[in-house]
This record gives sequence, C-alpha cells and structure tokens, in this order.
Amino acid sequence: MSSQAVVSADHRPAPRYVEDVIRAALVLTMFWGIVAFSAGVVIAAQLVWPQLSFDSEYLTFGRLRPLHTSAAIFAFGGTALIGTAFHVVQRTCRTRLFGGAPLGWFVLLGYQLFIVVAASGYLMGITQSKEYAEPEWYADLWLTIVWVAYLVAYLGTVLKREEPHIYVANWFYLAFIITIAMLHIVNNLAVPVSFAGTKSYGAWSGVQDAMIQWWYGHNAVGFFLTAAFLGMMYYYIPKAANRPIYSYRLSIVHFWSLVFLYIWAGPHHLHYTSLPDWAQTLGMVFSVMLWMPSWGGMINGLMTLSGAWDKLRTDPGLRFSVTAVGFYGMATFEGPVMSIKAVNSLSHYTDWTIGHVHSGALGWVAFIVFGTMYYLVPKMWNRPAMWSTRLIGWHYWIATIGIVLYITAMWVSGIMQGLMWRAYDELGFLQYSFVETVAAMHPFYVIRLLGGVFFLSGGLIMAYNMWRTVRGEPEAAADATRQAVAA
Ligand code: HEM
Ligand code: HEM
Repeated sequence: MSSQAVVSADHRPAPRYVEDVIRAALVLTMFWGIVAFSAGVVIAAQLVWPQLSFDSEYLTFGRLRPLHTSAAIFAFGGTALIGTAFHVVQRTCRTRLFGGAPLGWFVLLGYQLFIVVAASGYLMGITQSKEYAEPEWYADLWLTIVWVAYLVAYLGTVLKREEPHIYVANWFYLAFIITIAMLHIVNNLAVPVSFAGTKSYGAWSGVQDAMIQWWYGHNAVGFFLTAAFLGMMYYYIPKAANRPIYSYRLSIVHFWSLVFLYIWAGPHHLHYTSLPDWAQTLGMVFSVMLWMPSWGGMINGLMTLSGAWDKLRTDPGLRFSVTAVGFYGMATFEGPVMSIKAVNSLSHYTDWTIGHVHSGALGWVAFIVFGTMYYLVPKMWNRPAMWSTRLIGWHYWIATIGIVLYITAMWVSGIMQGLMWRAYDELGFLQYSFVETVAAMHPFYVIRLLGGVFFLSGGLIMAYNMWRTVRGEPEAAADATRQAVAA
C-alpha cells in the first residue's frame, strides 16, 4: 500500500489510497488476457484441424472451450473489473478502500484462487455443464465468500465517502456486484453428492432449469460484460479525454433503463424450445427495447469527446476506448435483431452467434480494458506515459484487423450455415447433409484463426510495452514526472 502526498485543487489532502492491490490486478489482467487469447487461438485452430487435441482427454475441444470462455470473461475481464472498481470507488468517493489493503488483497487473491480451482476442474472434466457456470459446488461456495467480501469492500467505501455525490460509474459497478451475486447463488443451487466435489445435482430441473440458466447467462452478459464495463467507460473516458461526460442526466436514464430491461431478456436464448411461447416473446420484446438505453450509453460515451476529437490522433489509448464504445453500439444493435424470433430461427446454433459474441467480447470488452490500462498503468506506477506510444498504435491496428477478420468470417459462415441447414430440394428433402455444411465452414475457420493470431499478437505487444513501462528507469521516470507536474 502506498501513500499519496498530494494536495488537490480544493486544498484537501488526498487520502492514502490502497494502490498495491490495483497494481497487482493490472498485471494479472494482462497475464490472464494472454492466457485467454492463447486458449482462443488454440480452440480456433482445433476447429480447423481437429487432430490438434492429440487424442488426449485433457486437450479436447469440450474441455478447452470453457477454459477459454472462463479465462476471457472471468479471469481477464473479472480481474480488470476488480482492479478498476477499487480504483474508481476510492477516487470518486475520495476515501481509502473500506477494509484497507487486507480486504482488498483478500478479494483479489481469493478471486485468483477461484479461477485456478475452476480451470483445473475443467481440464479434469469436472463440470456441472451449465455454460458460463461450469464450476462445481466447491468452487461456487468459495466464489460466494469472495464476492460478498468484494461487495463489503465496495459498499463500505461508498458509505464512508468524503464526497457528497455518488458518481454514476459507482452505480454501474454496484449493479454488477449485486446482480452477479444474486445470479450466481440462484443458478448454482445444488446438492453435492460426492465429497470429492466432482458431482452435484442442481436444484432446478427441466424447463425451469433452462430458464434459470439463461436468466443467469444473459445477465452475465448484461451485468458482467456490459454494466461493469460501462462503469469503466463512465470514469476513464472523461478522465483520458479530460472532459466531463456529455450528459450526466442521460447517464442516469441509461443506468436505470438498462438494469430494468436487461433482467427480462434471458428467454431470447430459448426461442423455439419448450419454454412457454409468451415467455419467449417477452424476452424478445425486452431485448428489442434494450437497444434504446444501450445506444443512449454509446452516444453519451462518444459525445464526451465532442470538442476533443483531435485527441484521438495523439492518444492511441483513448482510441481503444472510443472504438470500444463503437463496438458496444454495434453489438447492442445486432443483439436485439438476433433476438427477434424470425431472425433467431436462422442465427441460433450458427457461427453468427459466435461473431456477435466476439464483436462484443473483443471489440467492446477487451478494447475498453486495453484503453483503460493504457491510461491507468502509467498513473499507477507513477510514469509520465506508457513506454512506447508507437507500440500502442501498432497494437491498435493489429487488434482491429484481427477483430474485423474474426467477426466478418463468422457472419458469412454463420448465415451460410443457417441457410444451408434450412435449404430443401424440390422433393422436400434437405439439400445438404450436415457434413457438407461443416466442410463449407472450413475456409472461414481459417480466417477466424488468422484474426485470433492477430489479436493475440497485439496482446503480446501490449504486455511488452507494459513490462517496459512498469520496469522504467526510476530516476529518469521521476524526473519526467516532476517536469510533467511543473508544466
Ligand atoms: C484471440 C482472441 C480469441 C479467439 C481466437 C477466440 C476464439 C473462440 C472460439 C474458437 C470459440 C468457440 C466457438 C465455437 O464453439 O464455435 C470461442 C467462444 C467464446 N469466446 Fe472467444 N476467442 C477470443 C477472445 C475472446 C474474448 C476476449 C472473450 C471475452 C471477453 C471471448 C469470449 C468467448 C465466449 C463467451 C465464447 C462462447 C460463445 C458461445 O457459446 O456462443 N473470446 N472463442
Ligand atoms: C442490447 C444488447 C444485446 C442483446 C439484446 C443481445 C442479444 C443476444 C441474442 C439474441 C443472442 C443469441 C441467443 C441464441 O440464439 O442462443 C446473444 C448471444 C450472446 N451475446 Fe448478446 N446481445 C446483446 C449485447 C451483447 C453484448 C454487449 C455482449 C458482450 C460481449 C454480448 C454477448 C453475448 C454472448 C456471450 C452470447 C452467447 C451466449 C451463448 O453462449 O449462447 N451480447 N445475444
């Protein structure tokens, strides 16, 4: 824990913020990012060359896929969220983290333990077979403890704040923490049937189980992959652009309408199933309505740059964040379209969904994390800037090309796949056998793999740049900081 001997513009000394935990979270985020992108590249390669599982049960696509999704969402995204949440809440509340460094370390390290325990379970084939909720009960119980500690640290800090106002970013982070706790507990209710921890029976069954799983799954998207990262957007884009958010009022409308609508949209994952028809339609209608708050948020993020667009030329870190908001707009337009039953009858089960996921995951989630880290890393290590601005530019273009390759390949492959599945000949027989549709997707899987390699390469460039920034040359860096402060 380090102290800040800083006096701010209103002459109040800044508190001694807990910062070591944030620094560690940033390093771990980078580490998990590389792990997640590498796992993505490996499974993308397996879909091109299935023999890459080498006939080993530990390397099958079925075990590595949840390793990738959890490494990306929970390890990379989740660690970034814990680190930035602790940064944002302390700064905007102008007070030290509730529980201090010990509670902060408990949350961060406890969460890392959960990730390792969950991942080792996947490799050994231990799973409760619920997407994004694969870990068995022993890992779930531990996560519950860590998550409650996270809530206590966050809420405690908000309650003892020295600022009268609760800045909007905190609302988004809090909604994320509280909702994930609720979803995690309800969806994972289970009766363990083996002390070794390898087997349990879920509390829900049949269509109720499916509904609760996708209420969970969709809100993992809504609150983990969206609301929390919007908190990041609302704090770091105004900071990096050095401007207030475009409309504070819009941010409040954005918050309440988003959290109210998201929670109802889960059934769009269960169109044309045994879920009652009215519930499917309800999910569709709420999904279509979600387009509005989502775009309100996007407009708010983008317009924050009005009058400062020139910064995009000189600050490639900010370019990442702004592009992320653009991708957020794209994914939240595509999602409502895909939730319409007639469209979903084509897109469901196809690569179109995978394209949608990764325009959100790579374009929105990963890019907003990159943009935030390029802003935060120099600040946290007290460096004047990242070691190389040029490398940030390289990262930006390589990663952007990677995303474009990935998502366009999946759109073409997905729509083609859907159309081939439903094509009939003049006698009413299916026109294509399943294996023909698989063969047709092959070229697009090669392109997706190439896109993934580009994205991973960008990540490696970032890791190198971060390492050089963190290592720094203490004297030179201190000098430069002094000069920057004097200027
Ligand atoms: C180098 C970057 C990446 C590559 C090459 C990659 C590749 C893949 C592949 C091949 C799949 C399986 C697709 C299938 O089953 O047909 C997948 C699934 C998935 N990935 Fe990635 N991925 C990458 C980055 C990410 C990131 C950063 C995230 C999240 C922040 C993410 C989230 C997901 C999710 C949620 C799924 C499951 C989608 C579904 O079930 O519909 N991926 N990825
Ligand atoms: C207004 C916002 C959004 C709506 C209405 C929406 C809607 C949808 C729909 C209809 C599906 C396909 C369901 C299926 O056929 O099985 C889907 C899948 C998915 N979306 Fe979105 N989406 C939105 C935004 C986002 C964003 C911003 C992300 C961020 C990464 C995201 C991540 C995902 C994931 C991971 C899946 C795959 C779930 C699975 O494993 O099957 N979505 N979404």
